[in-house]
Amino acid sequence: MTSLESLQFQKRMIESPIGEADRAALVAGGEFGQVFTEHMVTVRWNEQRGWHDGLVEPFGPLRLSPAAAVFHYGQEIFEGMKAFRAADGGINLFRVERNAERFAASARRLAMAEVPAELFRRAVEELVSSDAAWVADHPEGTLYLRPFQIATEPTLGMQPAAAYLFGVIASPVVVNRREAPPMRILISDDHVRAVRGGTGDVKCGGNYAASMPALGRAAEVGCDQVLFLDAAERRFVEELGGMNVFVVYDNGSVCTPPLTGTILPGVTRDSIMRLAADRGARLVERPIEIDELQEAARAGRVTEMFACGTVAVVRGIGSLHGRHGEVVIGDGGTGDLTARLRQELLDIQHGRTPDRHGWISGISDARSRRSEVLEVAG
Ligand code: COI
Repeated sequence: MTSLESLQFQKRMIESPIGEADRAALVAGGEFGQVFTEHMVTVRWNEQRGWHDGLVEPFGPLRLSPAAAVFHYGQEIFEGMKAFRAADGGINLFRVERNAERFAASARRLAMAEVPAELFRRAVEELVSSDAAWVADHPEGTLYLRPFQIATEPTLGMQPAAAYLFGVIASPVVVNRREAPPMRILISDDHVRAVRGGTGDVKCGGNYAASMPALGRAAEVGCDQVLFLDAAERRFVEELGGMNVFVVYDNGSVCTPPLTGTILPGVTRDSIMRLAADRGARLVERPIEIDELQEAARAGRVTEMFACGTVAVVRGIGSLHGRHGEVVIGDGGTGDLTARLRQELLDIQHGRTPDRHGWISGISDARSRRSEVLEVAG
């Protein structure tokens, strides 16, 4: 069995890297998740060798047996995280240990081999330092990182697979200084996202696949996103299709549904809760009844609502659309607290404001390494 300490990443770097101007055009022009950097990281697991064959290689297709268990029984998990261009020119990772922990929890839930936190971090760092040029050298430069794990054993046997691939790919995120417009949200009363005892609190592809008909329905009626309710009673707010949700009331309380097993424990959710508490907000994790929420919004008692996640950061909710029509939240725009929390989180991530919670870890890219060498030489 390969020990983690002895696992080295072999590097097969791209022969002719893309030019700076072409890369800048790709970064600026791409929709989320359409453009990928030049490398990817892969690590394999089997029972005999444990995690082995760490590789940084050019981004490209994977060769898999059509019988690979992931295609049949869905043993697939992923993470979403970002690297940020820091104010001092370096690159910041944000709360990487939280993503590593959640990735391991997802693996346990789907009976997959667990990636140790140390290996998770090293794989992410290998990719970010190999593709550092893709973290735009711009105050808002960001690179979305997508660690994932799939069952690769070629078998139709219905049991946990005996071989896995752990990979990390990266996609530059379009620089956007201004917040996106507030969302119109469809309350889904036919489809649910998660049940107690299911997989709602882990990040597996199946959760997202099951959300897609509701997302399609939302798009048909001119909404941006779906709000899922609890499966048992269709009474309580859970989350959007990929984002946690917060409600701000006129008495100053900031409420979000508790993590009772059906809601994804978002890293952004946790960070926003801490930042809101730092501002003196009265944070309440409690079940939020959809009827009570709509009634309070109609009565003007809901001043803001927002959703948060790694991709969206923090995004205002302007209105809810349900069986009983439309309810506008506050004045329908992005609320003041929503905008402030978004800005504060971005400022921490980009190193423009002190990291008082210890959320940031730095990566030195080739350029900062070069400048270190120059400094020593000079
Ligand atoms: C995130 O924002 O963290 C996500 O994973 C969203 C993704 C499903 C598009």
